[in-house]
Amino acid sequence: MLEVAEPLNDAKWPLETVVRDNFLRPRNTGTLEPPAHTACAASVTCGAAIRMSFKVDESHRITEIRYQAAGCSVLVAAASNLTEAVKGMTTGQAAASARQLTWPGGVPAGREECVLLACNALLEGIKHFSDSVRDEWAGDEALICTCFGVSEKTIQRHVRLGGFERIEEVTKACNAGAGCRSCWPLIQDILDEPNYATATGPHD
Ligand code: FES
Repeated sequence: MLEVAEPLNDAKWPLETVVRDNFLRPRNTGTLEPPAHTACAASVTCGAAIRMSFKVDESHRITEIRYQAAGCSVLVAAASNLTEAVKGMTTGQAAASARQLTWPGGVPAGREECVLLACNALLEGIKHFSDSVRDEWAGDEALICTCFGVSEKTIQRHVRLGGFERIEEVTKACNAGAGCRSCWPLIQDILDEPNYATATGPHD
């Protein structure tokens, strides 16, 4: 026999207000067609999945963003909340924000993985976007960090002057690598390369 679910109400919905609000009134649901950038994330543990798509303008600001989720209330609420938060941000700002795993009032206890899934879908989409911009880059200097517009020469100069050995030191000095991290292997290549002595002045 089918059981009829009880209607939702505040007294029987013991989640945070932000979760409840974003789950019952989800913002930015749906999908965007190409040339929007799209990425998916899924959990093999619980089976939840999410697809996120977004459009950017010429200054790499997110102008539109949508998601489709199959999962729990916290995943839906996290995607709703995240998409609202990053609208209007540059992809670098959005990626850095998604990494901080912030949540108004704190991430619901024990549900970090649900929030992380929404963040990972956005980060994956931004990585694809960054890779495509880097691949199509036609500037004078090689572009390493798309998120923050940092060139190879700038990173070489910081590495040389600071004697850096770790990516975190480069990030602290010039922001390269603080977003989606798709540039990390390239920054590591520069750190591993002893022959950057020809690098010249600042080129940000
Ligand atoms: S390209 Fe995203 S952090 Fe560098």
